Amino acid sequence: MSALEVRGITKTFRALKAVDEVSFTVEPGSICGFIGPNGAGKTTTMRICATLDLPDHGDVLVDGVSVLEEPRLARKKLGFMPDNYGAYPHTTIREYLDFYARAYGLRGKARKRTVDQVTSFTSLGELQEKLIHTLSKGMKQRLCLAKTMLHDPSVLILDEPAAGLDPRARVELRELVKALGSMGKALLISSHILTELAEMCDGVAVIESGKLLATGRVGDIQKRLQPHATIYVRALCERAELEKALLEEPELANVRSERQGLAFDYTGDDEALARLVERLVARGLKPVEFAGGEVKLEDIFMSLTQGKLQ
Ligand SMILES: Nc1ncnc2c1ncn2[C@@H]1O[C@H](COP(=O)(O)OP(=O)(O)OP(=O)(O)O)[C@@H](O)[C@H]1O
Ligand SMILES: [Mg+2]
Repeated sequence: MSALEVRGITKTFRALKAVDEVSFTVEPGSICGFIGPNGAGKTTTMRICATLDLPDHGDVLVDGVSVLEEPRLARKKLGFMPDNYGAYPHTTIREYLDFYARAYGLRGKARKRTVDQVTSFTSLGELQEKLIHTLSKGMKQRLCLAKTMLHDPSVLILDEPAAGLDPRARVELRELVKALGSMGKALLISSHILTELAEMCDGVAVIESGKLLATGRVGDIQKRLQPHATIYVRALCERAELEKALLEEPELANVRSERQGLAFDYTGDDEALARLVERLVARGLKPVEFAGGEVKLEDIFMSLTQGKLQ
């Protein structure tokens, strides 16, 4: 069973279809990046998953529990980190977390232990007595994440958790997210910082104008969009000589100069590629660098979306 199953949800605001028949799933222990231009429908989708908004139709199952039929039970199984949150200014980190832990029904020693755990997990332990309104952006994000984890939910929905964080805080957030994934939790994370998402996500869901454009592993989406791989090769011979040899090879197109070598599009499989390398070696062309192009989430995003605001 998927940890999060979004089933054909639609949400309209007057004439605007903010979310249009969106379906996707996130498995336990996996991290799904949710990407799309501004106004695409990410926050709306996430709010519906978190029981904060009702869809016009469709449903969301959190650990098998319908957010429409059993919202209270679904809430116990999910943690939602909104893109901005309100906090009472004159409370400390400790008081804030203690308050929410109480609201989640944690009592006595269990509450103390849980607050200790989430503060240490988010490295807030030493700052516990700091007043919330004195916190920096990064500290607030950590606090918000700590709050999201208090009741140990199996599904975490994080709306732009990395926005406004400095590079170090982003790296740390990424590590926290990965740690949550390896604890078996399912995570859905929206972000505009694609390089970062690519590093932590197992898969992505791409949305624009309320419609889901693609979902799955980054590599698989890339293959669908562009069925060939990009290969880079550098050899200790004249570039023209290398180019001539490549042009005689099958399943190869679009040979072009790149850095000190050549790049080309390749539709063959790994076995065929290994034989290609053998032939280059046999011809005495001395290949020294051979690399498959990495899949860039940005390229996927750019080729799928059109960037129109609705
Ligand atoms: N409460 C609301 N009332 C009316 N329209 C809304 C409401 N909430 C969202 N919308 C509209 O729904 C669309 C989707 O908004 P949403 O906030 O889900 O986008 P998003 O993908 O999260 O964008 P961003 O990347 O800017 O955060 C937008 O056109 C937005 O203006
Ligand atoms: Mg949003």
